[in-house]
Amino acid sequence: MFSVGVLTVSDKGSRHEREDLSGEAIQKTLSPLNVTIAKQDIVPDEKHLIAQRLTSWADSGEVDLVVTTGGTGLAPRDVTPEATLSIIDKEVPGFGEAMRAYSLTKVPTAMLSRALAGIRKRTLIINLPGSPKAVTECLDAILPALPHAIETLRGEVEECGTAEP
Ligand code: MTE
Repeated sequence: MFSVGVLTVSDKGSRHEREDLSGEAIQKTLSPLNVTIAKQDIVPDEKHLIAQRLTSWADSGEVDLVVTTGGTGLAPRDVTPEATLSIIDKEVPGFGEAMRAYSLTKVPTAMLSRALAGIRKRTLIINLPGSPKAVTECLDAILPALPHAIETLRGEVEECGTAEP
C-alpha cells in the first residue's frame, strides 16, 4: 500500500472557478497500484506556495509519493518545475523522459511540458501536466516503474537486478 499526496496547481482551481478533474484523474489512474490518497490540495501558481506544500508533505513522512498536476508549460505563471527543483534533494530525470517520450506518440505538444521528478527525503515527487487527458497518458507511461521506485526509497529493495515491474 502506497500513501499518495495529490497537489493540483491552478490559479482558477484555487479560486473555485474550475472543477479539479485532473486531481480525480490521478486518483483513478493510480488505483490499480493499491494506493491510499493521504493528502490532497489545490494551490495557485505561486512558486513559494507550491514549494511550501511539497516540503510540508514530504517532511511529514506521511506520503511515499506526491503527484502534482498543472503549471509545467510555457505560460508566464507556470512555475511548478521550478518550485519542485527548489526543494528536492535529487532529481530523477527518467520520469520526465518517459512521460514525454510516450506522450509524443499521442500529441506533438507533449514536448511543451517541462515536468520533472525528484526525491525529497523518502518521498518521490512527480510533476504532471494540467489536463486530465495528459495526466492519464503521463501516468500510464510511468505506472510500471512506480512500485519499484517507492519500495527502493523505503529501503525495501535489496536486489535491483531481480525486481519485477
Ligand atoms: N502530455 C500528454 N500526454 N497529453 C497532452 O495532451 N498536453 C501538452 C503537454 N503535455 C499534453 C501533454 C500541452 S498542450 C501543454 S501546454 C503542456 O503539457 C503543459 O501543460 P501544463 O501547463 O498544463 O502543465
